[in-house]
Amino acid sequence: MALPRKKLVAGNWKMNTTPSEVAPYLETFRKEIEEIDGVDIALIPPFTGLSKASEILGGTQKIRLGAQNLSAEAKGAFTGEISASMLRDLFVRYVLVGHSERRRLYGETDEVVRRKLVAAIASELRPILCIGETLEERQAGQEKVVLETQLHGALAGLSKEDLEEVIVAYEPVWAIGTGLTATPAQAQEAHLFIREQLVKLAGTEVADKARILYGGSVTADTAAELMSQPDIDGALVGGASLDPRGFAKIVLAAVPEE
Ligand code: PGA
Repeated sequence: MALPRKKLVAGNWKMNTTPSEVAPYLETFRKEIEEIDGVDIALIPPFTGLSKASEILGGTQKIRLGAQNLSAEAKGAFTGEISASMLRDLFVRYVLVGHSERRRLYGETDEVVRRKLVAAIASELRPILCIGETLEERQAGQEKVVLETQLHGALAGLSKEDLEEVIVAYEPVWAIGTGLTATPAQAQEAHLFIREQLVKLAGTEVADKARILYGGSVTADTAAELMSQPDIDGALVGGASLDPRGFAKIVLAAVPEE
């Protein structure tokens, strides 16, 4: 039997929280999660908060840092961009790639997403590849085609070793920031489909170990049932991660049963 996958709960602050708000958040959050074990926890502040968070957390294992985006380029004349190695230098461990807001508002194509993913892995960052269908696509019965296209667009041709580093987040666009959550059954169906695609891309062993997170209006009330589904290995939380106490409750919901 394969080992159970350790859950990962990641809080994506999006464009919220100033650098001076980072320390008070961390102080409260650290207290709240002090007794919690057996869950990987990641905080994903804006770039400007990473430095402060990194200074406070150092290289601690209990709370890891993530970034919301990165450049596909390694260095040079790319005004306004942030490279993977700059993030590594701040002890950043994870990076979101292809969040639907980046795809929709900033025109990131599957090809851009793929290049960013490769850049992340090359610098030993673990990419959290975000995929998901819009409401129109779901209503047209196209959700699986969309997931397949986004997954293959980002991952086809990567080596097995590289694919082992990838975490996938299923985030139906219609559920992000809307208060509409996919039902546990809808989410499980999508996650199972994603895992089947990972089998095709990377083989059973890698696919069995891969963590697939659910994201889209996750709250302390919905988290436990979502994460109890067999193929849901954690959560990517936006709005509900901005309150350290509420976010700690979501982390608690991921603790494995004895
Ligand atoms: P939400 O955002 O929890 O606010 O819906 C999730 C995300 O976009 O990662």
